[in-house]
Amino acid sequence: MKTIRIGILGLGVVGGGVIEIINRHREKMKSHAGVDLEVVRAADLTTERFAQLGLSPQQCTTDAFEVVNDPNVDIVVELIGGVGVARDLVLAAINAGKPVVTANKALLATYGEEIFNAADAKGVDIRFEASVGGGIPVLEPLTHALTGNEITRVMGIVNGTTNYMLTRMTDDGLSFDEVLKEAQDLGYAEADPTADVDGLDAAAKIAILASLAFNSRVTLDDVYAEGIRKLSATDIEYAEEIGYTVKLLGIANKLADGIDVRVHPTMIPCNHQLASVNGVYNAVYLTGDFVGDVMFFGEGAGAGAAASAVVGDLVEAARAYQSGNKVIGCTCTDNLPIRPLDTLRTRYCVRLIIEDKSGVIAQLGAVFANYGVSLKSLKQRGAAGAGQVEFIFMTHETLEADMQKVLADIAQIDAVHEVASVLRVENLD
Ligand code: HSE
Repeated sequence: MKTIRIGILGLGVVGGGVIEIINRHREKMKSHAGVDLEVVRAADLTTERFAQLGLSPQQCTTDAFEVVNDPNVDIVVELIGGVGVARDLVLAAINAGKPVVTANKALLATYGEEIFNAADAKGVDIRFEASVGGGIPVLEPLTHALTGNEITRVMGIVNGTTNYMLTRMTDDGLSFDEVLKEAQDLGYAEADPTADVDGLDAAAKIAILASLAFNSRVTLDDVYAEGIRKLSATDIEYAEEIGYTVKLLGIANKLADGIDVRVHPTMIPCNHQLASVNGVYNAVYLTGDFVGDVMFFGEGAGAGAAASAVVGDLVEAARAYQSGNKVIGCTCTDNLPIRPLDTLRTRYCVRLIIEDKSGVIAQLGAVFANYGVSLKSLKQRGAAGAGQVEFIFMTHETLEADMQKVLADIAQIDAVHEVASVLRVENLD
């Protein structure tokens, strides 16, 4: 059995995890998967990592291009992240004819077309299981075991940090600020939490999922992304009262005229499987025309989980490499258009703070009637401050463009003191 020589770019926690897995399970992978993996080179700017991970000085460098261009490296693992030097390194590896395994969701969701075109031109394998859902094997089944299906829907809880935060807000009534601080103290949220709490991390992941599921290029810019900053424990508590849970969902639907793809806090029925995915866990739920509904669940972040996915990719890439299998290449062949958010039809749950006086409801009613918006339910709750009450309504299915007009007009009514929250509602039927 030929040893497949691996070069790792980036020795952070995931890179360290990859080395640990190969050290511990090399013999098992030889006997059970038919591949012998060995890490022969590694690059990182933090040179202390080399000795910490048991690497010899000869194997290590601070120049990642040295690893990419080393003729003794068969497969490159990119774990640097971001869309700067990582992009140059991945393209350099492809140009050198080397398969690449990466966990870099931002790179693929932004420069996927360039990278896959380059890989196709060279017949090089690109694998990226760890870019979505951490350790959950979902991209591999989506592109292989489920290819006998037309996938019409993919949705998921694909950001562990925000799912942890929402779980704490739901279970313990904490505010966004309180729970963000806690998530930062626990090391789940970054000091700059933007990518997680504003939905950008989830947007990159649903872009990758939608591209594979619908065989069409979906980029980060195509995804409407709204995070959880504006959510309050009150919204979550009200949702619970009427049988819903609030989750930050990535949603992608294949419709007759294109792809609907978005990330936003979403009210989903409490009895749906996704509603019970709590804490830092992730889940991806998809629907195929033959298989029906399938859900993948597991740890969406963390060294061990991501390293497990990287090693899974390495095994597949190594098997293909050593057997000379022809690489299938980019599957984005259908070029379906992305539908603008304005064309979305869904239900909305809106919480207003209004003045407690005669005639306000009539003014609101006139706005709904003006845009043909029909209400499914409404509720007025006790005092929201001196002379104020909370007014919460849920619409029947409504066009997003109409809902935005309704909200703009409502905000103009003097007696409406605040449009406190607007949540989209998915029945997930
Ligand atoms: N920041 C991500 C999360 C993990 O919280 O799920 C890396 O993709």
